[in-house]
Amino acid sequence: MAIQVVILAAGQGKRMRSNRPKVLHTLAGKPLLQHVIETAMQCSTKPPIVVHDKTGALQKQALKEFSAQWIAQPEQLGTGHAVQQTLSLLKDDDQVLILYGDVPLISLDTLMQLITNTPNDALGMLTTKLTDPKGYGRILRDSHNKIVGVVEERDADAAILEIKETNSGIYLVPAKWLKKWLPLLNNENAQKEYYLTDIIKLAVEDHVPIIAFHPQAQEEILGVNDRVQLAVLERYYQRQQAEKLLRIGVTLMDPNRLDIRGQVDVGQDVMIDINVILEGKIILGNNVVIGANTVIRDTTIADNVVIKENCVIEAANLKSNSIVGPFARIRPGTVLDAHTHIGNFVEIKNSEIGEGSKVNHLSYIGDSIVGKKVNIGAGTITCNYDGANKHKTIIGDDVQIGSDTQLVAPVTIGEGATIAAGSTIIKNVPAHQLTVTQKIEQRIISNWQRPVKKE
Ligand code: UD1
Ligand code: CA
Repeated sequence: MAIQVVILAAGQGKRMRSNRPKVLHTLAGKPLLQHVIETAMQCSTKPPIVVHDKTGALQKQALKEFSAQWIAQPEQLGTGHAVQQTLSLLKDDDQVLILYGDVPLISLDTLMQLITNTPNDALGMLTTKLTDPKGYGRILRDSHNKIVGVVEERDADAAILEIKETNSGIYLVPAKWLKKWLPLLNNENAQKEYYLTDIIKLAVEDHVPIIAFHPQAQEEILGVNDRVQLAVLERYYQRQQAEKLLRIGVTLMDPNRLDIRGQVDVGQDVMIDINVILEGKIILGNNVVIGANTVIRDTTIADNVVIKENCVIEAANLKSNSIVGPFARIRPGTVLDAHTHIGNFVEIKNSEIGEGSKVNHLSYIGDSIVGKKVNIGAGTITCNYDGANKHKTIIGDDVQIGSDTQLVAPVTIGEGATIAAGSTIIKNVPAHQLTVTQKIEQRIISNWQRPVKKE
């Protein structure tokens, strides 16, 4: 038997008060539906079937890198009606796992428990006891504690409303039974909807065993209907990420003030201060220190690197023992070799800074290759853009560049060259010489007086 995942994702989600379809709102930087599709892909090698409303154009566009079978539910007539749209795509011997595009945090562990322990001819479902079951379908059990039905809140009487065991809506059902049961559903209920939950009583009638499993955490089956619920799940997810890092030996100054929107691999004894955002694919080596208020995206950071406070680092490669910040901006395509120092108010883009080199104050280095042991003085700017094209600056090893220098690219600075402060370099500079482009005579005006403030 093969697992076929069906993800229900039709409906705009009015309570989000948004132009964006609900399932494209993001949790940890990723669309809700993507969380579910990624989990589905780990449950089955078959592409999941996703039920969408209207054309589903935005959803298909946002998730085009995933292979999914998209199917429209032209009108939202209920969860049972939604699954009905998929019947023609189901093979008779499929085991159908039903998930929801707005229940993003269902875990692989919980689903594997459901998949592994539900016999082929049974119906498995996830239920949970909630202290506040309001809004959920309630699980009916008979005197032998067997599940015999699900009653929606709006169809429930006072006694049923007292039941704490609730329906998650997640089931594993043989396709052949869905094909029999779904056409039998009717919409004679408070919401005038075709309820998927009605398959439970049909299973009882057909003597199909019903087995309930429970998620490891209640948050796994919580749905997102509005932005309050989305915010709650975001915090839960972030707390989980933070605890994972703590458990593998990362020090977090405050686990509640780190956000991870992607995947982080870490070495040992990493220390992360407060208000840090890690996005995309991040690799941190041993003993990395990340200062407060720093954002890092898609970056690899090697052992012993120190990022001081208030830095923004994107698509870069920082090699061991380099020091960055405070207040540095490292843009895509930057490689900092070992033992480099990048200081405050420095922007580096698409450049390699060679081993042991320093750019410590107020500089812009773009489209450059900087050699080893170079010192770039405060306020040095590579003028890499002529208004139409970008040009390269190449700086040899051991170069000393005086403060307030402009390097007008394309330009090459020879090894061991020294450039005097305040120079505007428009031609290649020879190795091992002093180059000066500006000659200012220093004068002394001996009887000069400072202006005084008028009364
Ligand atoms: C459903 C269950 C309820 C359960 C709850 C758990 C039914 C009848 N009820 O209720 O027992 O406790 O989930 O969260 O199944 N959808 C479609 N097409 C439709 C209707 C819904 O795709 O025509 C999708 C929605 O996008 C949503 C999901 O199905 O992702 C659930 O629909 P919703 O109307 O929110 O169900 P609940 O009333 O919450
Ligand atoms: Ca509903």
